[in-house]
Amino acid sequence: MPVWMGTSWKMNKTLAQARDYTVRLVKELGDRDLTGVQPFIIPPFTALATVREIAVDDPRVILGAQNAHWDDAGAWTGEISVPQALDAGARIIEIGHSERRQHFGETIETTRLKVAAALRHGALALLCVGEPAEVRDAGRSTAYILEQAEGALAGLSDEQLRSVLIAYEPIWAIGEAGRPATPEELRGPFAALRERFGDRVRGLLYGGSVNQDNASDLLRIDGVDGLFVGRAAWEVEGFLALLDIATAHNSTDS
Ligand code: PGA
Repeated sequence: MPVWMGTSWKMNKTLAQARDYTVRLVKELGDRDLTGVQPFIIPPFTALATVREIAVDDPRVILGAQNAHWDDAGAWTGEISVPQALDAGARIIEIGHSERRQHFGETIETTRLKVAAALRHGALALLCVGEPAEVRDAGRSTAYILEQAEGALAGLSDEQLRSVLIAYEPIWAIGEAGRPATPEELRGPFAALRERFGDRVRGLLYGGSVNQDNASDLLRIDGVDGLFVGRAAWEVEGFLALLDIATAHNSTDS
């Protein structure tokens, strides 16, 4: 199982910035041994094809889309379908990020439809789950995220689950207002995800204020197969440093 290390750029970067980042990344990765590490980048839709054109030079880097509609085509103004995302270069479809659940009406039902669409087209589905602070404070984190994951993945066969990654991203840990979860806080949720889905899904990731200082400790938590990073990887130097941490983790682990 590789160590997954990926970043979503969220709603950031012009085409020129996306190009600069990817050119630098591919150049720097050229000299690096990434054995056992799976890097991925999830640019905004507008930059996906541009990033793909450059990233084909290093096929170790896989790309994703931050969202996709469940229908294949049609009258869905403002939406992008899974086939369109794949056509532009994505192999991963991110689904159910808390920002989409909170601001754009994503529900357990729409995440279920989107996971099904991603799998129908041979993509990897990256399902994000995570609870708000008040749920954590009430001691209900694990029940909450299991409900999100079980709802979105209901009815999938073991073969389909092999194309699913789950990212546990507590809402209180994400973004400027967030603080990283501590290893103690992550043990319970990851043990539960591992018990429920562990060997059946492609991997379990943690996300939320990951940075160069905490990445190594986070990767050491039982059940964590990788990290999903925002701000700390928006500059290419940051992403490269995190990839180095993943490589070092992998070599001490094996
Ligand atoms: P952050 O974002 O690393 O900037 O906290 C994480 C995420 O939303 O996936």
